[in-house]
Amino acid sequence: MDSVHTVSVAAVEIRDADYRYPALVGSGLIEQVGKRVRKWLPRKMCAIISDKKVAPLVADRVERSLTSVGFKPTMITIPAGEKSKTLRQAGAICEQMIAAGLDRQSFVVGLGGGVIGDISGFVAAIYHRGIPHVQVPTTLLAMVDSSIGGKTAVNTADGKNLIGAVHQPSLVIDDVDVLKTLPRREFNQGFAEIIKHAIIADGKMFKQLQDWKASEALALQQLVLRNIKIKSKIVAKDERDQTGKRALLNFGHTVGHAIERAGNYRKFLHGEALSLGIVAACAVSIKRAGFPPRQRDAVIDLLQRFDLPTCLPKNFPRNKIISAVKFDKKFQSGKIRFVVTPKIGAARVANDVTLDDIREAVDAL
Ligand SMILES: NC(=O)c1ccc[n+]([C@@H]2O[C@H](COP(=O)([O-])OP(=O)(O)OC[C@H]3O[C@@H](n4cnc5c(N)ncnc54)[C@H](O)[C@@H]3O)[C@@H](O)[C@H]2O)c1
Ligand SMILES: [Zn+2]
Repeated sequence: MDSVHTVSVAAVEIRDADYRYPALVGSGLIEQVGKRVRKWLPRKMCAIISDKKVAPLVADRVERSLTSVGFKPTMITIPAGEKSKTLRQAGAICEQMIAAGLDRQSFVVGLGGGVIGDISGFVAAIYHRGIPHVQVPTTLLAMVDSSIGGKTAVNTADGKNLIGAVHQPSLVIDDVDVLKTLPRREFNQGFAEIIKHAIIADGKMFKQLQDWKASEALALQQLVLRNIKIKSKIVAKDERDQTGKRALLNFGHTVGHAIERAGNYRKFLHGEALSLGIVAACAVSIKRAGFPPRQRDAVIDLLQRFDLPTCLPKNFPRNKIISAVKFDKKFQSGKIRFVVTPKIGAARVANDVTLDDIREAVDAL
């Protein structure tokens, strides 16, 4: 079946007091980027920012689509991977945009995974003090997580996402067909964020995932849409991380981030480290929030269905994980804000979780 030309599109409007933008999810949307953008952004010049792996797969179609409705796109391609997410690279992109004559009436299209989403969004936030950003995510993780919520950032030598801005996109376009070229391991790591969403907010989706078989476009479209709704609803309650509501999205991330750091960002993909962090958060939840052990077992089963790791290699430096947890920004004046789940479908921030609880959970991994 050639689904590229079968366009079926679902839209969700993401809104809050200060912003409002649609996320379109469907098949065959890549060919329609121009048409869709024109409806929302009656501007002319734009930069398409992509990476060297994604660009050969989709950029020409996006460029053609934009040109066909009268836009003047400038293509900017950077090396693929996290190491490109730097202030230096963001600066180089801005220089190229200046050289191409893009002014404050122009906009940015980010075409790629979360790395491209984050750096292109950051560029859009600072270029001429802020121009519109269109997100065209090409990984599952970017579709269900990083393209929604307006967090943009680059890394420094000391850590990830230390420099950034909140800059909501003007439009998000998710073409699930592009996921066909995504390597299996990258595809699966997106499910760690999806399973996280299910645990903190959607017990029904958790059950559906237990029966998940299809990777066909329609099932994927509905899944992506549902996850966008979950994330955007939580973000709308607390765009700037001030009330603690957005913190629920950090479920599994205190230990997950620490594992990424302890593995020098090479051993595990983000979603894989998150998977381990979720298992640890379930253990802490059993102790501190009355989470039923049987539900923990169901979580582990589900993560394994997507080939996500649920235990650490024997020789992994567990003490490095604990040191990394200590430096985590979620420690505020010596206290840990740790997200726990009392049952699948619900979550809250606990203030009584100790470092020993976390150590115990990590030792059990
Ligand atoms: N802003 C946020 O709220 C937020 C949330 C979560 C994660 N993030 C960030 O997202 C980044 C991780 O995102 P990611 O996992 O998408 O990584 P990524 O952007 O590095 O993409 C993963 C790999 O897949 C390749 N790729 C992308 N799309 C492809 C496709 N369709 N076919 C084949 N290959 C493809 C990329 O070139 C890259 O090599 C991290 O930098 C993280 O900090 C941000
Ligand atoms: Zn994450």
